[in-house]
Parts: sequence; structure tokens; C-alpha cells
Amino acid sequence: MSQVPPPLPGPLPRHVAIIMDGNGRWAQLRRRPRMIGHRAGARAVNRTIDRCLELGIPALTLFAFSSENWGRPAEEVEALMKLFLHALEREVDELHRRGVRVRFVGQRERFGPALLARMQAAEQRTQGNALMTLSIAASYGGRQDIAHAARMLASEVAAGRLQPEQIDETLLGRYVALADLPAPDLFIRTGGDTRISNFLLWQLAYTELWFTEVLWPDFDAAQLQRALDAYTGRERRFGLTSAQIAALATETPTP
Ligand code: IPE
Ligand code: IPE
Ligand code: MG
Repeated sequence: MSQVPPPLPGPLPRHVAIIMDGNGRWAQLRRRPRMIGHRAGARAVNRTIDRCLELGIPALTLFAFSSENWGRPAEEVEALMKLFLHALEREVDELHRRGVRVRFVGQRERFGPALLARMQAAEQRTQGNALMTLSIAASYGGRQDIAHAARMLASEVAAGRLQPEQIDETLLGRYVALADLPAPDLFIRTGGDTRISNFLLWQLAYTELWFTEVLWPDFDAAQLQRALDAYTGRERRFGLTSAQIAALATETPTP
């Protein structure tokens, strides 16, 4: 019987996108208020950023608050806004020192003026950093993202600067969030649910998906490593056959 060789270790993902889910259940398991889980979740965010920096992952996108999360009880939404504000006040200096570029994607106009000002300040302060791009998806929805891109293209057409026939996936892709980054190579969702929950619908078209039961506040370097190992062991075919992918991998670039 022929031995199938184990998959060759592939490169690290260039971009990891995470749905950080399970904070509320983490707290409920401890008979504590949900906000305790969100605070523990904020610590897991720091751990994850640290680990990605250590590993040299150049882009990390974190789903912090969805457009649908505005529908949660007012007290939870308010407390989360306070947590975001404090986290920004506390963490931006350190992120800047470590070479992280921070920016936010989503409908930011829905945030209050204090938080908005902090978000803008964090973006401006860190915009020249190049070690890692940390994108925080806040008040973000994948469908809104695509609708926004469609609206931008429609206004270009209305202004006579674009013909409808020129609209293709490359052009639309330039108007969605994170267009300046490679699409996520690896998607992680904690908390045990296997759904996308209106995260990066366009950008995840060929992303490797990895789900874990671990609740977000328990996510650590070992968990991240499990996801990275799973990613490394997969063959990404992008619609081609295995043989084609193998041929591409051995192909020597022509000068
Ligand atoms: C994710 O944790 C954080 C946000 C959506 C803000 P949840 O708050 O959704 O936690 P569960 O899913 O209820 O456990
Ligand atoms: C997704 O989690 C959004 C974030 C983690 C910010 P949800 O808890 O809102 O997702 P559903 O409601 O389980 O789909
Ligand atoms: Mg949840």
C-alpha cells in the first residue's frame, strides 16, 4: 500500500480573521454577569495580538461588535461601549510602541462622539506602523459592507466616471472593507457555533474556516496554534485540482 505523505508545512497565514464569540456563556458558566465575560474577552484580545506579533502574522482582523449586536439589551450595549472606550485608552500606546497599525471597519457613525474621537485618534497615531495591521470590525456587517460598495460604484456610474460594464469582482473588491489587505487566509470562530454571523461575507470566499468549542475568554496561544496547525495541513485548491496545485507548487518561476 502506498504511503500518503503528510501535508508539507505551508506558510503562516498572512491574514487571520476571528469571530470572538462566547463571552456571555463564559460568564454565565461562572454565574457572573455577561460583562465579566466581555472583560475576560478583552484580555484574550491582548493575548491574541501578542501571539500574532510574536509569530509574525502581518494582519489580524477581530470581530468586536456586529451591526446586529446593536439590538442587544441597552445595558449590555452601553457597558460594551464603555469597555471599548477604556480598552482604547489603555491599549493604544502599547500597540503603537509595538508597531501595530490599528483601524476600524464598520458603520462608525453609530458610535458616540467620545468613542469616535478615540477611534480616529488611534488610527491617526498608528497609521505609519507596519509590523501588523489590526482591523477591528465594530458595528460591522458583511451585507452592509457589500451594499456600501455597490452604492459607491452606483455613484461613480451616476457621475459618468464609470460604465456599468466595467464593474467586475476586482473593481467591487476595491470598495469593500480591508481592500488593502490580502483576503483572510484563516478564519477562526470560538464559542462552538458554526456560522459566519454577517462577518466578512465577500472577503471570506476562499478563506479556510476553523471552528472551536472553546469560549473566547479561554482562547490562548495553544488554541491559536491548533488553528494554525489545521490551516497548515490543508490543501487550498481555489477550484483547481490537486494535481494542478502540486504542479503550481513545483513550478519554477520564469525569469
Ligand atoms: C461575543 O460574545 C462578543 C460580542 C458579540 C460583543 P457574546 O456576547 O456573543 O457571547 P455569547 O455568544 O452570548 O456567549
Ligand atoms: C458574532 O457573535 C459577533 C461578534 C462576535 C462580535 P454573535 O454572538 O453576535 O453571533 P450570533 O448571534 O450567535 O450569530
Ligand atoms: Mg455570541
